[in-house]
Amino acid sequence: MALVNMKDMLVHAHRNGYAVGAFDLVSLDFLQGILDGAERCEAPVILSLAESHFEYFDFEIIMPAVEAAARRANVPVAIHLDHGASLESAIAGIRLGCNGVMVDASTQPFEDNVNYTRRIVDMAHGCGVPVEGELGYVAGVEGEDAERHPGEVIYTSVEEASEYVERSGVDFLAVSIGTVHGRMRGEPQLDIERLGRINQALGIPLVIHGGTGLSDAQFTALIENGVTKINYYTALSDAAARRIRANADADSGCGYTGLVKGAAAAIQEEVERCIRLWGSAGRAEAVLAEAAPWQEVEHVIVYNTEGADAQQVDELMAIGRDTLGQIPGVRRVFTGHALAEDAKYRHCWVVRFAHAEVVDSYRHHPDHQAYADTHFRPVAGDRISIDFEDAG
Ligand code: 13P
Repeated sequence: MALVNMKDMLVHAHRNGYAVGAFDLVSLDFLQGILDGAERCEAPVILSLAESHFEYFDFEIIMPAVEAAARRANVPVAIHLDHGASLESAIAGIRLGCNGVMVDASTQPFEDNVNYTRRIVDMAHGCGVPVEGELGYVAGVEGEDAERHPGEVIYTSVEEASEYVERSGVDFLAVSIGTVHGRMRGEPQLDIERLGRINQALGIPLVIHGGTGLSDAQFTALIENGVTKINYYTALSDAAARRIRANADADSGCGYTGLVKGAAAAIQEEVERCIRLWGSAGRAEAVLAEAAPWQEVEHVIVYNTEGADAQQVDELMAIGRDTLGQIPGVRRVFTGHALAEDAKYRHCWVVRFAHAEVVDSYRHHPDHQAYADTHFRPVAGDRISIDFEDAG
């Protein structure tokens, strides 16, 4: 079980002067290639899922595989929603298993960016989940030619960065200092001096988007100036695509499995190169020792009803599943009837929380309070309620 608290992971990197790779994945080949690369280097790693990629896979369907792979890994892993489009995206990401979220409001005016990000932070912190904000604008599209994407790079201002972090409460800040998402022609010009001033002013983990295409020396300069999370995708996509093209050239009649053969290994090679370059190789043990494991909580209630018939109890449960399942930090709502007729308690709720922080935010959430006061408590006076942390 190597899913760990992402804030602990990045604080370790910030304090020790290295960067963790946040590699975007779009398929199981990427998942395997990224984790194999991290395991071979004994490095912490972030599995990143960008909302702009959701047209290529079903987020809800891929997440159980991502989470299972993260929990099975021997190295510390965090799962991050990259460039979420809205508060609702962040809530859905946490429900599906992300333990770090970014909601990108960087195209909005400063005040709107601050206020919207603050709402995300309040929600996510109530779930124990850290938040990445972005200030300034990193143009381009992951996996595409950056020049084809409209939009100018807007550099992050040092003064605005301090105000933004203080008012929004973000845990990590993505800065715009000259990188672009995707491939770009020519050498990117980075404003390292500006980055250094931002780092001095903030003292929190900084994030670089658009890692593809930077030179080794540029990565070193970024990391020396506070960058502790590097978002990286296009070069992985290109490495996989080169392998697929070579497979097609070698055997023009091959089928799907023949085409994608070796794609995960090509991704793994590039992941390994980055991890070694960014200084996170060999850090797994130290991070595992310091970072809190990411543990869910089961909120269990067993109860008997009075003054409600079987149909009313089923309705009560159905309303509860709908209402409570929407509350931030709730991952699953199970309602059940006892199998044994002589069971001391006839019914139950088992509500899975993403993290122990949800115990409080759930209890105080207005939808929970309204449901409990209106529907549940009036008929379920005889009940026991206990929160259990994963002991495994
Ligand atoms: P690249 O595709 O340029 O590596 O950028 C990835 C990224 O920043 C994802 O958020």
